Amino acid sequence: MPLFKWSESLSVGDGTIDSQHQRMIEMINELYDAMERQEGAASAEGLVASLRAYAREHFTEEEQTMERIGFPDLAAHREQHAAYIRQIHDYEQSIQTGESPNILDMSRFLCNWLLKHIKGSDQNYAPYLSNE
Ligand SMILES: [Fe+2]
Repeated sequence: MPLFKWSESLSVGDGTIDSQHQRMIEMINELYDAMERQEGAASAEGLVASLRAYAREHFTEEEQTMERIGFPDLAAHREQHAAYIRQIHDYEQSIQTGESPNILDMSRFLCNWLLKHIKGSDQNYAPYLSNE
């Protein structure tokens, strides 16, 4: 059972960015589902590493878009992205060092953060995109 499904209410009005957000949600769901199936830390480690790599790529592209459209709140937004990457990295390390973290809770945190970020921060640049 996936944690969350993307819906139109999360759209930022850009097909590429929306599909990247959908992919991130899918990746978090994959992690959550794998842990529900009790696939263990080795599986989680790979999935979390892929999520971090994908999130970095997506954030870089999103920041380039915000630069291009002259979004004024870019610096604070960048900081939110960096904090998320650091959080994923911390999770990766706790999985690697076998601190028996609760990966279902981690997945929930990663999903909730992303939803809040899309609604509370990403959607703020939508009007600048449509004015382009
Ligand atoms: Fe963002």
